[in-house]
Amino acid sequence: MPEIKVGLIGGGGIAGAHIRGYREHAERIGITAVADAVEETAVARGNELGATPYVDYRRMLETEDIDAVDICLPHHLHRDAIVAAAQAGKHILCEKPLCLTADEAAEVRKAVQDNGVTLMCAHNQLFLPAVAKAKELLEAGSIGTVYEVRTTDSFYNDFDPNSMGWRASSKTSGGGELIDTGYHPTYLLLHLAGGLPVEATAMLSTHRLKFMEGEDSAQVLIRFDNGVVGQLVTSWAYQPAPATERFSAVGELGSLTSNGSSLTYQLRSGETETFDLEPVDTFVAEIGHFADSLLGKTRPIHTEEEGIAVLGILLAAYEGARTKTIAPVLQIP
Ligand SMILES: NC(=O)c1ccc[n+]([C@@H]2O[C@H](COP(=O)([O-])OP(=O)(O)OC[C@H]3O[C@@H](n4cnc5c(N)ncnc54)[C@H](O)[C@@H]3O)[C@@H](O)[C@H]2O)c1
Repeated sequence: MPEIKVGLIGGGGIAGAHIRGYREHAERIGITAVADAVEETAVARGNELGATPYVDYRRMLETEDIDAVDICLPHHLHRDAIVAAAQAGKHILCEKPLCLTADEAAEVRKAVQDNGVTLMCAHNQLFLPAVAKAKELLEAGSIGTVYEVRTTDSFYNDFDPNSMGWRASSKTSGGGELIDTGYHPTYLLLHLAGGLPVEATAMLSTHRLKFMEGEDSAQVLIRFDNGVVGQLVTSWAYQPAPATERFSAVGELGSLTSNGSSLTYQLRSGETETFDLEPVDTFVAEIGHFADSLLGKTRPIHTEEEGIAVLGILLAAYEGARTKTIAPVLQIP
């Protein structure tokens, strides 16, 4: 038996990536039960993992001797699953987005705090070595006071109306591409900016996936309380131009830029260095970090607090786009 027993909630596409992580860290953390509303999926994942299958995750929470859950559900189901797991005293790893509205976020925070459990947001791209190196350089003051941060996460997505499922509808996804793939460059921006988001706006577009209710592309501007201004571009409609950075930051002494695998910083003094970093499976690193946090009783890199800050940015961006204004990031009690 692993030291930490996990109940997987939702055994679809992304669960496969998480499972690679549990296999890699099998002695410390492993899935011993799995719940999926589609019985065939629950049974198939159960067989694959040697885990007990359930079609109702609430039943799993009542019955199974588990320490934590891993929530891999469609977006509109995250809040209920987090609250149920917290009330059952289970620690939580939750896929992005944390939840969909300010009211849901307040409920999530309360449930986690009242029940004294740990919630880690599954923000896997934080585990890219280039991101960790950039954070280290920024915190060491290598480029001085940071003025701007940019992030990009765009790709040509060949979704069609038949393959999109719950992602095609705003009710179940919470919006469009921005709250889905766009969630990644948002948490990355938050992480690198190092402040709290104050206001945001967006231009949303539907360039190609016309059958979606929400946007297929977004450009977002965000101001943070430490003076950093962030810009992000995200799309399912197109590949970015070849030289587009994955992320960059500019400060008083110089800048740093990354394509996601290597990282270069360049100072106005002429000093420059490029780090070519070994690729890692970010999902494997994420599951290892979840285990480290629970066993070492240390704070995960992103908890519900950063999840709420990311959601705050996205809600303000959507509001700014809707009203053609710069919208404040709502403070969630
Ligand atoms: N980090 C990443 O790069 C990344 C990539 C893809 C998806 N995701 C996130 O993972 C989550 C799931 O996405 P996915 O692509 O795996 O979706 P999916 O549709 O492939 O899987 C969702 C699973 O949940 C099950 N389900 C639905 N309702 C349920 C319920 N009430 N109880 C139990 N099971 C239920 C479905 O049967 C399905 O098996 C989303 O939050 C998504 O944004 C993250």
